[in-house]
Amino acid sequence: MDKLNILFAASEVVPFAKTGGLADVAGALPKALRALGHDVRLVMPRYYIVDREKYSLRLMEGSLGVPMGTMGEMWAGVYEGVLPATDIPIYFIDYEHYFGRSGLYDENGEGFSDNDNRFLFFSRAVMQLAKKLHFHPDVIHANDWHTAAIPMMLNTLYAYDPHFAYTGSLLTIHNLQHQGKFYKGVMDVLGIGWEHYFELEEHGSINLLKGGIVHADAISTVSSKYAQEIRTAEFGWGLEGLIDINSYKLHGILNGVDYEEWSPAVDSMISYHFDIDDMMGKGMCKNTLQQLFNLPQRGEIPLIGFVGRLAEQKGIELIASSIHKLLEMDIQIVMLGAGEKWAESFFSEIAGMYPHKFGCFIGYRNDIAHQIEAGSDLFLMPSLFEPCGLNQIYSLRYGTLPIVRATGGLDDTIENYHNDGEHGNGFKFHDATPEALINTVGWAVYTWYNDHDGFKKMQHNAMSQRYDWEGAAHEYESLYRRIIHGRKGV
Ligand code: ADP
Ligand code: GLC
Repeated sequence: MDKLNILFAASEVVPFAKTGGLADVAGALPKALRALGHDVRLVMPRYYIVDREKYSLRLMEGSLGVPMGTMGEMWAGVYEGVLPATDIPIYFIDYEHYFGRSGLYDENGEGFSDNDNRFLFFSRAVMQLAKKLHFHPDVIHANDWHTAAIPMMLNTLYAYDPHFAYTGSLLTIHNLQHQGKFYKGVMDVLGIGWEHYFELEEHGSINLLKGGIVHADAISTVSSKYAQEIRTAEFGWGLEGLIDINSYKLHGILNGVDYEEWSPAVDSMISYHFDIDDMMGKGMCKNTLQQLFNLPQRGEIPLIGFVGRLAEQKGIELIASSIHKLLEMDIQIVMLGAGEKWAESFFSEIAGMYPHKFGCFIGYRNDIAHQIEAGSDLFLMPSLFEPCGLNQIYSLRYGTLPIVRATGGLDDTIENYHNDGEHGNGFKFHDATPEALINTVGWAVYTWYNDHDGFKKMQHNAMSQRYDWEGAAHEYESLYRRIIHGRKGV
């Protein structure tokens, strides 16, 4: 099979900059594609937090001209490096005025007011960079609204550019809630011409994700269930009609896990290693975790972990309205998250009220995320919607049984407990209500205390499952080939 040239554009990539799962995907999928023999290259912005020394990034010679419509041409620097421990090139678009800030998209919860220009600039720079590198992509793989302008640019500004004569585009939607909606005057910066306005228009504004969906050769999302859900009003955030019409080119490919980073047998961030046939270390990790959160070091109590953005999506209101009832049970809960201010202060107060039962760390800490996965017995993820969700898949590997709401990728990856002693890798509920959440946590806690064998069997089921990137990479590869096929008309 011939090798493909793939240009992968994302607004965050592990380990350089991360706010959520998109970065995990962008740091891992290219490696799996490379392992299949493809020439994959990544592009991301050079934010302030990208550590140029640590990753030995070199400034490329010359600057990159980035036309910004009526704002004129701007000049970017480009840093060059590799994804750690690989030969995969990664390029960082450097433009101090746009990316030399501490936040990626916002500061103190406030989105930057020039996010439109920042990411249009980045998208256009991706196109210009391919030319500067003399790299002819077979496919440009764009991700979320930040790079959704790329398929539009490819079909308009570069439609007759021989450099991209055979280039197709894939737009992966990791989260439909964020669509990149801006004042329509931004059309002048996008520069594709006002004749394309209606492809992006929404109530008199522009919607970059909408334009991306219209123009991309294919669209995908990160689980099969979410691919179905986003065609409905409940999950479509207003784009369900458009997505439904375009469902002929919509695919659902479940994310994988980078098991080099998320495996209890090799995880460098946890205090003791363990694995499916030697679970000793898990109890010791639990002990360490209880110490870390100043909770009584009781091995027999079920410890429930939560890691995630404190955002409505993650079901934090459900947790908040159930918390007092939950804490009536003989359990401990540890929480790691940052996000909405009300939630940060609410859960900090709960920690003060229940110092022996509830521990909370407000902030972003990868090491603590790993320790929670390793040291907890159960993992709570009651999301209102969840395109894929990675934490529940990580939890499986650590024998930490997920308690989830049956939506999106959570529904695709978690199988409910059956007390036949054979099936199940977690606990799942449907209704987004505090009652359903409390009952299901109660059921998990009951299982912990009264059905040791059942609990152990589920841990075994969970830990023997594999969600490797290799499988997902094969699916992306076939999709890329379909795109190229369609594009060339052969
Ligand atoms: P989303 O992308 O919607 O935030 P995912 O479950 O796909 O949800 O991915 C979240 C990723 O971000 C996981 O790798 C998780 O460990 C990490 N994460 C989220 N919040 C934090 C935090 N406060 N500290 C450390 N890691 C976090
Ligand atoms: C998004 C989704 C999450 C998904 C991640 C990576 O942030 O919210 O469910 O796992 O992207 O695809």
